[in-house]
Order: sequence, then C-alpha cells, then structure tokens
Amino acid sequence: MAMTHETIEKNTPLLMVLIILAIIWGGLVEIVPLWFQRSTTQPVDGLKPYSAVQLIGRDIYVREGCYNCHSQMIRPFRAETERYGHYSVAGEFVYDRPFQWGSKRTGPDLARVGGRYSDDWHRAHLNNPRDLVPESNMPGYPWLASTPADGAGLVQAKMTALRKLGHPYSDIEISEAPAALAGKTESDALIAYLQVLGTAIKRR
Ligand code: HEC
Repeated sequence: MAMTHETIEKNTPLLMVLIILAIIWGGLVEIVPLWFQRSTTQPVDGLKPYSAVQLIGRDIYVREGCYNCHSQMIRPFRAETERYGHYSVAGEFVYDRPFQWGSKRTGPDLARVGGRYSDDWHRAHLNNPRDLVPESNMPGYPWLASTPADGAGLVQAKMTALRKLGHPYSDIEISEAPAALAGKTESDALIAYLQVLGTAIKRR
C-alpha cells in the first residue's frame, strides 16, 4: 500500500525520521553551495591578513570580551548602512578565526570603525570612555596602556599556524613579527586592530 499522509501522521517515529531527513536535506541544500562560492570563500579585494601587531590586538579584543557589547557585522538594512557604512560581506572575514560577528549591541557595531577616529581618540576612550562620551557605560581599560604587547612570545607560532590555514604570511613577516611588537603596548596593538576593521571596503 502506498504511504499516505494519514499513515505518516499516525506513526510518530516515522514522522520524526521523515522530519529529520527533511531538515537535513534543506540544510544541505542551503549550506553546501556556500563552501564553493567565491563570494563566501575568497577574500574581498584589498583584504590583507592581520599584521603581527593587529593580530595580537585582536587577541586582546577577544581576551577583554569586547564582543560582549560590540558586534562586527553590519546587516543589509538601510538603518544600519546609513549609520555604519556598507553592509558586511563574507569575504571580509576570511582571515578572522574565529569571527567576531556577534549580535549583542550594548555599544555600536565596530565592523567599520577603522579610520573613524584618530589613534589618540581611541587611546583616551579605552582609558576612560566617559572622558569623551559622558553618558557611556563602556568600562575603562587603563591597564592596556601600560602592559607590553608581547603576545606571550607566541606570535610567530600563531602566524605559522594561520599560514597553514591559508593566511598568506611571508617568511619575512613571520621572522620580523617579534621586532614589530617590540616596544608596543597592548593599547597600541588593540588600536592597530580597531583601525583596520572594515577598511577593505570603504565607508561611505
Ligand atoms: C559593557 C559594554 C561594553 C564593553 C564590554 C565594551 N564596550 Fe565599547 N562601547 C560601549 C558603548 C555603550 C559605547 C558607546 C559609547 C562610547 O562611545 O563610549 C562603546 C563605544 C565603543 C567605540 C566607539 C564606537 C563608535 O563607532 O563610536 C569603540 C571603538 C569601542 N567601544 C571599543 C571597545 C573595545 C575595544 C572594547 C574591549 C576592550 C569595548 N569597546 C568594550 C560598550 C562597551
């Protein structure tokens, strides 16, 4: 006898199995093509892997939990693009491991904050946000300015590992990484990271 809708609806285990198969199939149809599309797997023109200093700055961003209040993903809606600039595209994040997209926005989205303020602005803001934005509830991070950014001595190992994953670092960039960090504070590194965010695609 052919399987009718009625037999499926009256047989719960069968219904469950068929629902799971339908979801798996639907998921595969949506997800698998993304693994092979240029727009989701290739860097956008002009995107560079993070420099040694930016990379360590990014680690500080993650360590301090900045993502708890800041997303890094501009959605393709007018209200967002008017405020933050061009919406985010997948090819901007191929060198982000892990990405910092997020959805929690106690503070503004930072996907295109690069170049928006001067380094001095960031330095003062990170030290005590209320000096610049009196109503801000962002915490201050005053210790960053007095802590050396040495990357715990692991910057070369990190870049070598990332190179294995396809980040195009040259031997010279890796061998010069510790020198690039010499004398830099955590605040310098974090600001170098913030200043490059979203700059491969120009803000309007
Ligand atoms: C408790 C939530 C919170 C945390 C944690 C937080 N921020 Fe903020 N941030 C805010 C708020 C709210 C604002 C808006 C007011 C202001 O400019 O201070 C803001 C503003 C900013 C701005 C200015 C953005 C713009 O477009 O004007 C930057 C840059 C920034 N934060 C960076 C950081 C970094 C880096 C960290 C981690 C070291 C961090 N924030 C942690 C809440 C937070």
